[in-house]
Amino acid sequence: MKDFKFENIICGYGDTMVLRRVSGRVGPGRVLGILGRNGVGKTTLLRALAGFLPLASGQVNWAGRDLQGVPPHRRLAESIAYAPQEEVVFAELSVAENLWLHLPERQGDRYAPMLAQFPRLAERMAQRAGSLSGGERKLLSFARTLGLRADLSLLDEPTEGVQPENIERMATLLRHRRDEEGAAFIVVEQNLSFLMSVADDVLVLDHGDCVLQGPLASFGRDALEAHLVV
Ligand SMILES: Nc1ncnc2c1ncn2[C@@H]1O[C@H](COP(=O)(O)OP(=O)(O)OP(=O)(O)O)[C@@H](O)[C@H]1O
Ligand SMILES: [Mg+2]
Repeated sequence: MKDFKFENIICGYGDTMVLRRVSGRVGPGRVLGILGRNGVGKTTLLRALAGFLPLASGQVNWAGRDLQGVPPHRRLAESIAYAPQEEVVFAELSVAENLWLHLPERQGDRYAPMLAQFPRLAERMAQRAGSLSGGERKLLSFARTLGLRADLSLLDEPTEGVQPENIERMATLLRHRRDEEGAAFIVVEQNLSFLMSVADDVLVLDHGDCVLQGPLASFGRDALEAHLVV
């Protein structure tokens, strides 16, 4: 079983520690949702899990192996994909080039399900990704990440700026990868409805601490919302 575990993660920037002993796990066919207000450390956690930020202490373990010192591109080769919150596409490359960038060859219909759901991308395949709106760039990043068919995908606020009807389509595509293909996801979100429509388990961060953790079904919407309002 390809389980992904992180334990007692402490990390931050310089001498300032943002995360204080955060732990969690996700397995095949499961989605772990990470919630929390602005600035509590959600992106910091995903960057640490993707290998972009060194840990001050703690462990990240993938399929029984410690990922200490394994750089981001090696994690991708081990089927851990990452879609960052910002700077999600290469603006100077075309939409098509962005999609195929990380794949060794253009494998037929890999992106067909995403392009069928997001016709705006399909129409703009030859255009610079920099000409897309912020929400369209997030869609492109989401489509690219799903098309990698990684065993685990780390998604940082995938629905930020995306139109509501496309958010529903994103949820459908994500659930298909999870339910039909056994993919695992860690999804950071502030859109509670989207998160509740895809997550099996949730982890709520507040000021670098985990303040709530467990199966989504064990929490009411109100309990989760209480941690998001300022
Ligand atoms: N490169 C950096 N250098 C120094 N401090 C940083 C850096 N990036 C983030 N921080 C600080 O770390 C803390 C957590 O930031 P982080 O981006 O992880 O939060 P977040 O939960 O993702 O917020 P948001 O909801 O706005 O995306 C904040 O106080 C932020 O100012
Ligand atoms: Mg963030």
